[in-house]
Amino acid sequence: MNSARYAVVGNPIAHSKSPAIHAAFARQTGHDLTYERLLAPLDGFRATVDAFRAAGGQGVNVTLPFKLEAFAYAVRRSERATAAGAINALRFDAVGVFGDNTDGAGLVRDLEANLGVDLRGAEVLLLGAGGAARGVMLPLLGAGVGRLIIANRTVERAEQLAARFTHDGRVGASSFDTVPGAFDIVINATSATLGGEVPPLAPSVYAHCVLAYEMMYGQGETPFLRTAREAGSARQADGLGMLVEQAAESFLLWRGVRPDTAPVLRLLRDAA
Ligand code: ATR
Repeated sequence: MNSARYAVVGNPIAHSKSPAIHAAFARQTGHDLTYERLLAPLDGFRATVDAFRAAGGQGVNVTLPFKLEAFAYAVRRSERATAAGAINALRFDAVGVFGDNTDGAGLVRDLEANLGVDLRGAEVLLLGAGGAARGVMLPLLGAGVGRLIIANRTVERAEQLAARFTHDGRVGASSFDTVPGAFDIVINATSATLGGEVPPLAPSVYAHCVLAYEMMYGQGETPFLRTAREAGSARQADGLGMLVEQAAESFLLWRGVRPDTAPVLRLLRDAA
């Protein structure tokens, strides 16, 4: 029998670590599968995925800039994908394409299982109100955080995102310079790091911070992580663990087993 085929679709895609992660998961679990990179033209997401499916593909991960198009591509969606409004994992079922968003679950697992953070009752500040922030809202709330404040450069976008969760009394919105109080965990879901910038927060925000978390990975100590450390944050982490955990959650969606992520995360950290 042929190996089951999976892929990650994006543009650009050359530097994706997902093939190495899934190859390690396949070795570990004894599953016979291949996982490739698919570069889709910016106007060709649907055609690329259609072709992969027609060639026998069983599922794909989806990365920038196609997570919204993947949402439209799916005919059935998980609750967390619906809440995120974006999809990073598609499974090609006989009854139609099922879409999921494993990013938020990946973040929560990295925080709890890898970094040992207790999210129950934690005061969390989420920086950013774009797709990356939206994708992690429901899983953070589901993990039992005590307060979840979204702070964004454009405060209206933070307010709009918070408004989707008004039924949940724990959610609020803020601008960077009016962030209310101090937080246990500060998560940077902005793309400020790409431009070497850092959201301008008062140092007091980090006064009893146990963890500053940068969703991007592989950039060493970013301006955000340095600022947080200097302002008193006890620990800093980047998003490599989130990457491996969202991959494990995708593997579970496709293959019905959750791989052990610790050795794979160690492998990637050693290679960095
Ligand atoms: P993504 O899907 O990666 O979240 P996005 O939807 O373009 O991408 O959102 C980018 C986020 O980073 C936004 O919250 C953006 O703030 P605005 O809504 O005000 O644009 C934030 N961002 C980008 N560059 C930033 C910077 N230099 N400083 C602070 N926030 C920044």
